[in-house]
Amino acid sequence: MITLAVETSCDETALAIYDTEKGVIGDILLSQAKVHSPFGGVVPELSAREHTRNILPLFDRLLKDTGFDLNNVDFISFTLTPGLILSLVVGVAFAKALAYQLNKPLVPVHHLEGHIYSVFLEKKVEYPFLALVVSGGHTDFYLVEDFSRYKFLGGTLDDAVGEAYDKVAKMLGLGYPGGPIIDRLARQGKPVYELPKPLLTDPGFNFSFSGLKTAVLNLIKKEKDVKPEDVAASFQETVMEILLKKTLRAIKETGIKRLVVVGGVSANSRLREVFNEASEKHGFELYIPHPRLSTDNALMIAYAGAERFKRGITAPLDINPQPNIPLEEFGRVWG
Ligand code: KG4
Ligand code: ZN
Repeated sequence: MITLAVETSCDETALAIYDTEKGVIGDILLSQAKVHSPFGGVVPELSAREHTRNILPLFDRLLKDTGFDLNNVDFISFTLTPGLILSLVVGVAFAKALAYQLNKPLVPVHHLEGHIYSVFLEKKVEYPFLALVVSGGHTDFYLVEDFSRYKFLGGTLDDAVGEAYDKVAKMLGLGYPGGPIIDRLARQGKPVYELPKPLLTDPGFNFSFSGLKTAVLNLIKKEKDVKPEDVAASFQETVMEILLKKTLRAIKETGIKRLVVVGGVSANSRLREVFNEASEKHGFELYIPHPRLSTDNALMIAYAGAERFKRGITAPLDINPQPNIPLEEFGRVWG
C-alpha cells in the first residue's frame, strides 16, 4: 500500500510518499522559519499564504525527484487537526483535490498521533506505552493502549514547552525557532540561575511553563551583565528536570515501562542525554525519533494514515479541518 501524505498544520509545508512494505519513497519539506523569524513566532496569516504559495511547487519537486507515478497511490493521508486553521485549510483542500482527481480514499490523521507514530518509522513499539508529546503547541502525556486508543493523562495549563523555548530565545534576541538556538547556546553556558519549577511537586501530570518564562524575563531585566549562554543553560536544565520528574512519576503510577518522547522539542540534545540516562538508571524502554522526524514532517502523517487505512477507516470528501480536536476524542471518532 502506498500513501501520499500532506501536512500543513503550522509553519512547515510537508509532503511524503510512503510504501507500507518498502518504506519511504519521497519526503519533502519547506520550512517557513525565515518568514516568521522577524516576529519571533509563527504569524498565522503569513503561514497560510506561504503554504498556498509553496504547496504545488513542492508537490512538483517531489514527483520529479522520485519519478513516482501518481497512479500508484492507494490513499491520501492528511492532517485534519490540530493546528492553525488557515494553514490546515490549505493542506486539507490540497489533499481533497488529490483524492478527488485520483479517485482514491482520504485518511484523516491527528497531528499529535503523527508525532507519536514518528518513532514507528524506525522501530515498532509494543502496546501499551506512554507518550510525552513536547512541541511548539503541546506538552502532553498520553497512555497509548492501542492504535487510536489514547488516554490523556495531563498536559500544560498554559504555554507549551517549545513555545517557552521560542519566547526565551525572543527575549534574548536570538531568532526563531528558538529551540535549536537555545539547545546550542546552552552547551556553552552553565546552569547558574535558580528558576521556578511550577507544578513540580503537584500530583498529576500537568505542566506550567509560563511562570518559568516570566522568571527568565525578570532575570534578564534585573541582571544587566547576564550571560545569554548561562540563561539558556539554566532554562534548559529547569525544563529537563520538570519533564523528567513528571515522566518518572507517570511511569511509576501507571506501571508502564515503555516511553516515547516525540514532537519538536524531542530533537533537543540535552533532552536525549537526560532521558537516555534515566532510561538506563530506572529501567524503562525509551524511544525518541531521529531529530529530523522529531520536528514536523509528512512521513509521520503517512505512517499514522496507513495504520488507520489498514483498519478500513477513511473520510468523506466534504470533511473540513478543525483547529483543535483533542487526541483522545479524535481516536474514538476515527478509530
Ligand atoms: O513539533 P514541531 O515541529 O511543531 C509543532 O507541532 O509545534 O515543534 C516545534 C517546536 C518549536 O517550538 C521549536 O523551537 C522546538 O520545537 N524545537 C526545539 C528543538 N528543535 C525544535 N526545542 C528544543 N530543542 C531543540 N533542538
Ligand atoms: Zn508538530
